[in-house]
Amino acid sequence: MSTKITKKETKRDEFVIFAQKWHRLKTTDFIPESSLENLEEGKVAWQTPSNIALVKYWGKKEPQLPENTSISFTLSNCHTTTEMHFEKKDTNGGFCFDVVFEGEKKDAFKPKIQKFFERIEAYVPFLKEYHFTIYSKNSFPHSSGIASSASGMSALALCLMSIEKLRSPAISEAYFYKKASFLARLGSGSACRSVKGSLVVWGAHEQIAGSSDLYGVDFTEEIAPVFENYQDTILLVDKGEKQVSSTVGHDLMFDHPYAQNRFLQAGENIAKIKTFLKEGAVKDFIALVESEALTLHAMMLTSQPYFILMKPNTLQIIQRIWDYRAANNSNVCFTLDAGANVHLLYPENEKEAVQHFIEEELAVFCQNKHFIHDYVGQGAREILL
Ligand code: PMV
Repeated sequence: MSTKITKKETKRDEFVIFAQKWHRLKTTDFIPESSLENLEEGKVAWQTPSNIALVKYWGKKEPQLPENTSISFTLSNCHTTTEMHFEKKDTNGGFCFDVVFEGEKKDAFKPKIQKFFERIEAYVPFLKEYHFTIYSKNSFPHSSGIASSASGMSALALCLMSIEKLRSPAISEAYFYKKASFLARLGSGSACRSVKGSLVVWGAHEQIAGSSDLYGVDFTEEIAPVFENYQDTILLVDKGEKQVSSTVGHDLMFDHPYAQNRFLQAGENIAKIKTFLKEGAVKDFIALVESEALTLHAMMLTSQPYFILMKPNTLQIIQRIWDYRAANNSNVCFTLDAGANVHLLYPENEKEAVQHFIEEELAVFCQNKHFIHDYVGQGAREILL
């Protein structure tokens, strides 16, 4: 493979500039005008889902902009609930907040949130006016190996947008959600895909209307019935902390010998998956989704330094999925995140059979036989307090 930036890559760069200029909101559009209401205190809350990418985002540039377009299914059962209390306070020019996670004060989470606040300060000028207490919990077990940064950061972003809306009631719903996704992106890239559902695209792409590097957008193209209510069972192969964070992984795409071709391939896969989703081409969808998962891990295997996030049981499960699919003419397939856990994706009409197969044959490869049944969801929901 060539390491040169190809003609097509340059075309994407040109398209991104064009898109930002003419069609989409720009970074500066997210800096609010002075707010109308003077708000002393209050509380807001959101429940926000996790998501699973079909075409993967791997590789970014400052400030948290993707090197390629990605698309994900929004999930339902795996979510974060965050309640944010705020009260006016002289913060001495700093950020002032406490974090309570699942009932316990968690100072260990503060540096990540501090960094997030620093990144979004220009767009959320009231951040230094308040003391915030952030109460957060996840629906999935702690240390399950399921990344909580997507749901966690999108919950924070939506809570902040609710406060902005209280102070500036005139902001439109469309702007509210776009900015929530924009802010979430600055916390954790894939978090920008955890605001809406059921399919979200992040990263400017010529064939996706309204797409932007700055925030995720709803995939509004036609979707065949087979892809509605798609199921995702997460097999928890390894519940430990990841040995390599996604930040380090993204950074390793900088000098990666295959990076430019990978970014091109992702763009082509977005165009292909759009057709497969429309035509209900499940077999083609399977081939693309599994290839995307293995390509993501191939990037890790071929980076310097190289690393392996799959475990022996990840491969055991993949082999069994392939055997089961061939023996039963099934449409079940797998995808992987940056970890050892396996996501099993399947149409709703195979739910009973596939869940039986999981219990009988795959649970044994999971840590403590633990798996989570989930399905595609519609996005975040505000909790009225
Ligand atoms: O959002 P981050 O920086 O944690 O990156 C996540 C990247 C993958 O989960 C591996 C792929 C994706 O598109 O979600």
